[in-house]
Amino acid sequence: MINLILSSEITLDMVRVTEAAALTGSLHLGRGDKNRVDQAAVDAMRGALDYLDIKGTIVIGEGEKDKAPMLYVGEEVGSWNENATEIDIAVDPIDGTRSVAYGKPNAISVIAAAEHGKIASLPTFYSNKLAVGKELADKLDIDAPIRENLRIAAAALGIKVSELTVSILDRERHYDMIKEIRRVGARIRFVTEGDVASAIATALPESGIDIYMGIGGSPEGVLAAAALKCLGGEIQIKPWPRDEQEKDEMEAKGVDFDRVFFTDDLVGGDNVIFSATGVTDGSFLKGVRYRRNVAITESIVMRSVSRTVRRITAYHDLEFKTVTTKTLGERKLIT
Ligand code: FBP
Repeated sequence: MINLILSSEITLDMVRVTEAAALTGSLHLGRGDKNRVDQAAVDAMRGALDYLDIKGTIVIGEGEKDKAPMLYVGEEVGSWNENATEIDIAVDPIDGTRSVAYGKPNAISVIAAAEHGKIASLPTFYSNKLAVGKELADKLDIDAPIRENLRIAAAALGIKVSELTVSILDRERHYDMIKEIRRVGARIRFVTEGDVASAIATALPESGIDIYMGIGGSPEGVLAAAALKCLGGEIQIKPWPRDEQEKDEMEAKGVDFDRVFFTDDLVGGDNVIFSATGVTDGSFLKGVRYRRNVAITESIVMRSVSRTVRRITAYHDLEFKTVTTKTLGERKLIT
């Protein structure tokens, strides 16, 4: 019960966290330096997390402790006050770092929080994913042929297959999938980066995307699951080994590559909060815009317990706006 009450209280704090990462990451828009974009966003997100009155543990973040200085898996964030709620946190300070570095679309900053022990971690680097919104939840099957899924989806939505829009990462590994989608006759919206946004877009009618499918990062799949849980959508995921070595290693650990992970397997419990802020323009969030002395951000924040989805447009006055980074403390956003 305490969890539920605190969830509503920290909802806006979560938006501040993704805003901070989006604002700092976007300062390096188009400068061709992916690492700089990432470092800036990580530092600001980590700094913002310290303001939250939670006992937070990072369960999906920047990798292992010895490889990442901040937001590594197992790092404790928040106040850790005695009465604070214990929650697990999944983050991607910027999903689509390369997009930001090269001034391209679809990058967002993301955070998800759930009760302790409820966020899964998948065994492989990549996973095969199938995501849909509310109207198609429980209707498709990641193991079924694409043509069958598209026909079922069109029938369920009361449209022709040719009116369906499928989103997929523009990658060579998707060649056969793309050929099949084209053969069946659906439209395709390609994305160069950022499949968290594409998966979530299926549950937001204004995006115009009906289905997301294809192989992308596993942590990104879990983050998308958190959002889809709040939106009543669905994601199905199958771990996908990127090469023989990963396959052998995972098989030796007993990984079952036939297992399908559903939304609730990825993010359990009834108490999930998700926030995302646009970094560059995407299908449902605009990126950060700088206008003279103001930076404008667009965010979406939602809670699974109430299924309320809030869109927040914030105007940050750059004369006053400060961001607290972990390494340098509080400073003006633009100095
Ligand atoms: P990051 O910016 O977090 O590195 O991820 C971008 C991304 O496009 C993800 O959205 C996607 O899941 C993954 O990379 C796809 O990986 P790859 O670029 O190797 O195909």
